[in-house]
Amino acid sequence: MIKLLTKLVGWIDARFPLVSTWKEHLSEYYAPKNFNFWYFFGGLALLILVIQILSGIFLTMNYKPDSQLAFASVEYIMRDVQGGWVIRYIHSTGASMFFVVIYLHMFRSLMYGSYRNPRELLWIIGMVIYLALMAEAFMGYLLPWGQMSFWGAQVIVNLFSSIPFIGHDLAILIRGDYVVSDTTLNRFFALHVIAIPLMLVGIVFLHIVALHAVGSNNPDGIEIKKHKDAKGNPLDGIPFFPYMVVKDAVAAVIFLIVFSLVIFFAPEIGGYFLEANNFVPGNPMKTPEHIAPVWYFTPYYAILRAVPPLFGSQFPGVVAMGVATIVFFLLPWLDRGKVKSIRYRGPIYKAFLAAFVVSFLGLGLLGAIPSTPTYTLISRILAVVYFSFFILMPWYTKIDKCKPEPDRVTSK
Ligand code: HEM
Repeated sequence: MIKLLTKLVGWIDARFPLVSTWKEHLSEYYAPKNFNFWYFFGGLALLILVIQILSGIFLTMNYKPDSQLAFASVEYIMRDVQGGWVIRYIHSTGASMFFVVIYLHMFRSLMYGSYRNPRELLWIIGMVIYLALMAEAFMGYLLPWGQMSFWGAQVIVNLFSSIPFIGHDLAILIRGDYVVSDTTLNRFFALHVIAIPLMLVGIVFLHIVALHAVGSNNPDGIEIKKHKDAKGNPLDGIPFFPYMVVKDAVAAVIFLIVFSLVIFFAPEIGGYFLEANNFVPGNPMKTPEHIAPVWYFTPYYAILRAVPPLFGSQFPGVVAMGVATIVFFLLPWLDRGKVKSIRYRGPIYKAFLAAFVVSFLGLGLLGAIPSTPTYTLISRILAVVYFSFFILMPWYTKIDKCKPEPDRVTSK
């Protein structure tokens, strides 16, 4: 049997770089041995991507992308299709968990300076994934054609019409109509089911290629490639296969337990993962009292609402929201710190990062509830804190008193 298998591998290897790829990217790919909890989330993101694609395929088998039939087809999946309810809850929970995992993955990069030289491109590719993920989630949310689906899309697409000169035409191009309609549902379906997932898989592949080209950063923020043994392998690294694969497998099991608890015991999580209003069919004649996006968009939504309109136009808010999202692209060039990891940074960076996290979470909470004058004031203060983190970064990272980095990784 083993002889046959070796022969088969040899046959394939003569025609395809199987063994060399396995070695280069798994059994002889050296990852830093001091990876901690925060390094679980890239692998988990990969796992969720697979879960979303698989559950999405099964949902599509019974879903109808037609404004007259969409809502009922989702109800049909929930009530009549065998196992349909669990597939739908996997997909809806997966969407929210994707953002939980991605936000933690990005936060890790902020803590350990993973976006800095030589990982700028890896970071930029990550940001493109983040934007694609947002588009994917936004378009998917229209598909059940509930009240929140319809009105959420209506509000967000209308924001584009506030862009001077091109806004009106752009909004029509996105909707394919003057209002969110069956045409909009059809194009969002096509983009959600084929175009963006295909893109996502492609960019995630590039993300991994870029990661393997430069190698992982680690909680100490120092390069393990600086110290190599006689064979040229990093002294502070261990082969990805089997060691990191086993470590990631433990994380995957724990993650799947949490994931199952949500699916089986609290799939709506008090309206945060699935909103009550979306169990009501979309009605273009009846605007819900309170329209808010799903939780993962609410920090940006709060920033949009915090900026006052100019001559009746929401454009300044739209710009602020757009800048709040894409400003992350600039991080590699805004950060002038002498060290990468938070372990060796001074108190100023730590204070700014903490303030940024508070502002992001605070804005997230405020974006989910109806605004009042007090809440708007708090949102404005938090928005200033949010932007200060980026705008002042070249200054505070430069003057911050850093501790000396160790020469070799530590095992704290
Ligand atoms: C589908 C989404 C994503 C997948 C599947 C993914 C996958 C991965 C994997 C497997 C790793 C190596 C393991 C780890 O460091 O946790 C990684 C590292 C990294 N990712 Fe992602 N990622 C995704 C999204 C993002 C996003 C949105 C960003 C940032 C905007 C990002 C930035 C990074 C960076 C900077 C690293 C290197 C971190 C280090 O070495 O310290 N990734 N990613």
